[in-house]
Amino acid sequence: MTGEMSPIDKAKYASARRAADYVEDGMKIGLGTGSTAALMVKRLGERVREEGLKIQGVPTSSTTAELARSEGISVITLDEARWLDLTIDGADEFDANLNLIKGGGGAHLQEKIVATASDQMIVIADAAKAVETLGAFPLPVEVLQFGGLTTAALIEETLVGLDVLGREVVQRMHGDAPFVTDEGNHILDLHLKRIGDARQLSLVLNQIPGVVENGLFIDICDTVVIGHGDGKVEIRDINTGTITEETGENAESENLFSDI
Ligand code: A5P
Repeated sequence: MTGEMSPIDKAKYASARRAADYVEDGMKIGLGTGSTAALMVKRLGERVREEGLKIQGVPTSSTTAELARSEGISVITLDEARWLDLTIDGADEFDANLNLIKGGGGAHLQEKIVATASDQMIVIADAAKAVETLGAFPLPVEVLQFGGLTTAALIEETLVGLDVLGREVVQRMHGDAPFVTDEGNHILDLHLKRIGDARQLSLVLNQIPGVVENGLFIDICDTVVIGHGDGKVEIRDINTGTITEETGENAESENLFSDI
């Protein structure tokens, strides 16, 4: 199996596996969405089965809920949990301040609600997600279906006055039909190329009627666990300002990739 994995997949796995070590008995955990988060959920499932780890998980999408249940993780709603110890989730981009673009999988609304209701958010990602300035990845904006074209036009107009390089607004599709989120909304992908002021953009977008939530996560993420293709991980913590590197030696001795 290892031979079939690309370096990016190995990097995702290294990061997901390392982040799962942060989870302790009794914790309520926000479970992210996407390919990296799925690896983390599987690793937590393994810990539940092998170590008897006792956790409750709050999934950020119907896909993650299904996976968590199939892994034997106890799943509760956010309202049952009320507050979480930790959320672990992927990201599409992160910058040096650990501000993020999320929503490539269309789940950023639930992801943002869950992460904001957590003591700590850890992002798991391969090194290719690190950027100097956010915006090369199209920014997902969840909008109500009602008046969706009008909302798109309003967003385009609003972008004219903002510090961005591109202004193309594209409706996300699923085959021939618009993509529909777990909340029954649509997604507009904003091709901005470069976001000069992510905080301002996030505030302005969320002022537009019809916008439910944008994919910018500002001051929400505490730690990023960056995986590399050789099993190395780099851990950046915004609160302590520390950067820790863990070599692939540990990874090899644990036979990191042997079980996938
Ligand atoms: C889901 O809506 C997103 O926010 C994902 O967390 C993000 O797209 C990262 O996904 P991958 O881990 O699949 O790259």
